[in-house]
Amino acid sequence: MTLTNFMDVFINRYACKHFDATKKINSEDFMTIMEAARLSPSSFGFEPWKFLLIENEQIKKNLRPFAWGALNSLDGASHFVIALSRKALTAESDYAKHIIEDVKGIPLEQAQKQLAFFQQFQANDFKLLDNHRTLFDWSSKQSYIPLANMMTAAQFLGIDSCPIEGFNQQQVENYLTSQSLMDDKQFGVSYMVSFGYGATERPQKKRQKMSEILQVIP
Ligand SMILES: Cc1cc2nc3c(=O)[nH]c(=O)nc-3n(C[C@H](O)[C@H](O)[C@H](O)COP(=O)(O)O)c2cc1C
Repeated sequence: MTLTNFMDVFINRYACKHFDATKKINSEDFMTIMEAARLSPSSFGFEPWKFLLIENEQIKKNLRPFAWGALNSLDGASHFVIALSRKALTAESDYAKHIIEDVKGIPLEQAQKQLAFFQQFQANDFKLLDNHRTLFDWSSKQSYIPLANMMTAAQFLGIDSCPIEGFNQQQVENYLTSQSLMDDKQFGVSYMVSFGYGATERPQKKRQKMSEILQVIP
C-alpha cells in the first residue's frame, strides 16, 4: 500500500448518517474490524473494554428511545456495537490479576512490583481513585483507541461507520443491566459504533488547518 492509499483511508472515512439496509458486511470483514479493536494498545496493557454486538432486533428497538444519535444506524447499519469500559479496574481487582496471569502469562508473585507501580500511578500520578467516575472515564479513554482503529480498519475494507455518543448513558446502562447484558458494577457504556454501507454521497471533509492544531515547540 502506498502512502497515498493509506491517507485516502483517513480522507474517505466519514460518520455515515444513512446506511443502505440491504447491504450486509461479511463475517470475515467484520472480524477484521474487531481484530483491529482487540489488538489496540491500552494503558499498562489492561484492555479495559468489552464489545457487545447487538444482532437482536428487539433490543435495537428498545434502545431507540434512549439513543437519539443512533437512530440512523439502528435503521440501516449492518452491524451495531456497544462499547463497555471497566469501572473497577484497580491493582487489587480480580480482573487485573486475570490479565497479568492468564493473558500476559506472568505469575502473580512476579508481578507485585508492577502492580504496586500501577497502584501508585492510579492513586498519585493520575488521581484515578478519588471517585468511581474518574476510574470509568480513564478506562473509557482507553476504549476510544479501539474505536478509532475499528473505523480505520472498516474504511480500509470499504466499509462505512458511525461513532455514537448520542444516547442517555444512564438509561442505556440501566436497560442493558436489566436484560443481564452488562454488569453495571463492573462496566459502564462508553460509546456505540455502527458499520455498514452508506446510502448517500460522503460529505466534504471539513477540518481546521494543520497550523491551528499543531504547535511546534523549537
Ligand atoms: C465520540 C464521537 C461521538 C459521536 N456521536 C455521534 C452520534 O451520536 N451520532 C452521529 O450521527 N454522529 C456522531 N459522531 C460523528 C461526528 O459528528 C463526526 O465524526 C464529526 O462531525 C466529523 O465528521 P466526519 O466523521 O464525517 O469527518 C460522533 C463522533 C465521535 C468521534
